[in-house]
Amino acid sequence: MRYGYFDNEAREYVITRPDTPAPWINYLGNGGYSAIISNCAGGLSFHKDACYRRITRYRFSGVPMDRPGKYIYIRDMDSGEYWSPSWQPAGKSLDEYECRHGMGYTKIKGAYSGISAEVTYFIPLGRDYELWVMKISNHSGRKRNLKVFSYVEFSWHEALRDTICDWPRRLFDCRFIDGFVSFDPMREGEPLFSYFGTDLPIESYDSCRDRFLGAYRTETNPIAVEKGFCSNSSIVSDNACGGLCCPLTLEAGEEKTAAFVLGVSGTRESSGEKGRAALDRKAMERDFEELRQSWERLLSHMRFDTPDEDVNTMLNVWHQYQCKTTFDWSRFISYYERGVDRGIGFRDTMQDVLGAMHMVAPEKIKERINLLLGIQLQRGDAMSVYYPATGKAHGGGRSDDHLWSVYSVCSYIRETGDAAYLQEKIPYYDGGEGAVLEHLENAVRFTMNNLGSNGIPLLLNCDWNDTIPSINKRGGAESVFVFFQLAHAVSELTTLYRQFGVADKIAWAESVRDYCKSKLDTVWDGDWFLRAFTDKGEKYGSHEDEYNKIVLNPQSWAVISGLCPKEKCLTALDSVRRLLNTELGVMSIWPATSEFNPDKKLYCWNPKGTGENGGIFNHTNTWIVIAEAMMGRNEYAWEYYRKVLPSKRNDIADQCMAEPYVYGSSMNSIQHEFPRIAGNSWLTGTASWMFVAVSQYILGIRPDYDGLIVDPHIPAEWGHAEVEREFRGVKFRISIRNNDRGNGTRFLIVDGERIDGSRFFLSSIAGRKTVDVMSEG
Ligand code: GLC
Repeated sequence: MRYGYFDNEAREYVITRPDTPAPWINYLGNGGYSAIISNCAGGLSFHKDACYRRITRYRFSGVPMDRPGKYIYIRDMDSGEYWSPSWQPAGKSLDEYECRHGMGYTKIKGAYSGISAEVTYFIPLGRDYELWVMKISNHSGRKRNLKVFSYVEFSWHEALRDTICDWPRRLFDCRFIDGFVSFDPMREGEPLFSYFGTDLPIESYDSCRDRFLGAYRTETNPIAVEKGFCSNSSIVSDNACGGLCCPLTLEAGEEKTAAFVLGVSGTRESSGEKGRAALDRKAMERDFEELRQSWERLLSHMRFDTPDEDVNTMLNVWHQYQCKTTFDWSRFISYYERGVDRGIGFRDTMQDVLGAMHMVAPEKIKERINLLLGIQLQRGDAMSVYYPATGKAHGGGRSDDHLWSVYSVCSYIRETGDAAYLQEKIPYYDGGEGAVLEHLENAVRFTMNNLGSNGIPLLLNCDWNDTIPSINKRGGAESVFVFFQLAHAVSELTTLYRQFGVADKIAWAESVRDYCKSKLDTVWDGDWFLRAFTDKGEKYGSHEDEYNKIVLNPQSWAVISGLCPKEKCLTALDSVRRLLNTELGVMSIWPATSEFNPDKKLYCWNPKGTGENGGIFNHTNTWIVIAEAMMGRNEYAWEYYRKVLPSKRNDIADQCMAEPYVYGSSMNSIQHEFPRIAGNSWLTGTASWMFVAVSQYILGIRPDYDGLIVDPHIPAEWGHAEVEREFRGVKFRISIRNNDRGNGTRFLIVDGERIDGSRFFLSSIAGRKTVDVMSEG
């Protein structure tokens, strides 16, 4: 069953029935003041940091689900009936409902008893407030006396303390000042005040949540709305809200516009002035148009035209939009991530930058990479997460974090040509500083200094797989995934050294690579690669076992690392097809078991058939797509990509639960009692890596240090595809002719000139602004 459809023209996903199986959300803002909003107007707002600067509350896992939010109630003063144009929280069945999630905005329209209201929620670019602009019209044929109530629940800014400590409840002040409900968290540190107001005449207000809602009530039936007025409450303890009551009369056929603003300011006195400026009608229109144009620009750097409409929808709109969202918010906050213990992750965002490089300004990419390199330690490994508001990092001790930086930095230089970046000095988290290149080399050195008894990198606290530490209770476990990551990293460094003439380092990088080659037999299990060695020295991910015989990641990374001979790669990939490939996608492990019994080599935490334990872990599916394309098995690459494409879930959205317009982290596989349930949508490494997989490997358009590679591996059924890509200030119009032989491109025609192979130098097109490229396979 479906709940909506893609409107590609408008770049919107349109939800036509509100009772989606889970809240289907959208992100507003771009890394500064930001918000999440669901199709029923549930959600929350935060300022730069969802953990330390939470502006409004959201009750994760609460019932009723998806509360509170950015709520509007309309009350008919003659009949006493009230409803919400977003269906929830009032929950009254509407005569019409539609939610349009767009690029940086959400429009929710609801009609009841002849009154239609459409509310557009957005955050103007670079501003620290959000606007809710409501167009309300009367189609009932008679004059209507209404009151509009609006409501948000303020959060004391530190989200975790707001949830678990008693004292924040007694340490704030919330009252109506200068036309706005103003919340002062009375917190040490940089002052930040929240405010909420409207351009409608305010008849009454509430700052006390429990006066607005009433005791033992919920947002569904607030006492204020039921009575028809607020009680002008102020509050200095317990629970604060911004509740406003505004009379509104509509003649028959009349339409009015009303706007609401929720924002933050540095002084309490300036809130009113800021709020009024934000509500200026002309400014609002201009701000919305600016937002629209900024997305138009962001999405214009790469445009795709393939014979598959689902693919086009994802690539031209939603997939890129998701890449930008993960770039902004890492794994920090979503409907599934509570925004209190993830921050901006080293491992995660080093991967996120890969999907944003083609569209986000190079300075911003660099700023993000710098921030992450700044939480690396001198010895080479890194802290795991960083909080923007405090500048503090947490975690660390993992075997993989630091290695992700090599590919990201190299990709940044390939995209921008900014090789000078390698020499920029970045501080280490524990003191001192080093050039970017030194940070990368230290990462490799750290791994080489931390090998286990089989000569494979130690797993330490964990590797990419957060759920694997149980194989390492006593220490000494080794990770084959990290082993391949290491091989890949030194191969990247070798190419970099060659490209930029760092001759004295090549021998070192090659020696690490040779070392890795010498260990290939140690990690080979006969038909595939092992996943690890446990702390008892046992093989993990081996055919010898009853469970957990084969794990996906080492197979794809064996190929991606470029370390292994072709036959071994193909044997491993064939094993993946035979044992892990299913109609829903490729499973992460097989056979999965939920039993935890180290005596039987069973170490799993999460239920069988979910996530890392045999689910369809989408992030890992991206790498198998790349691996198959690299091996020239185009049909398999396409098959794996197509299977996990979110838009393909649109018609079975009721079974999958999560939004069909973005990737989720994973979906339950056929090894689970309830297959198909997808979860943890939005913030997943799947976004960036799948974008790399499709654009750089299936479509084959890969930036290189001094040129562009066009080496497509499209499926036979496509015949052709067209891509426009901006690269180093030049617009490339790339036309891909059927390349189903799997042998790569035979020749390119670059502005009419034939070039053998799949790569051309930028020097050959110097001075041109638009270049036509045709690839012949
Ligand atoms: C989740 C985490 C990511 C981790 C992966 C595997 O996606 O966000 O950091 O690498 O799970 O455990």
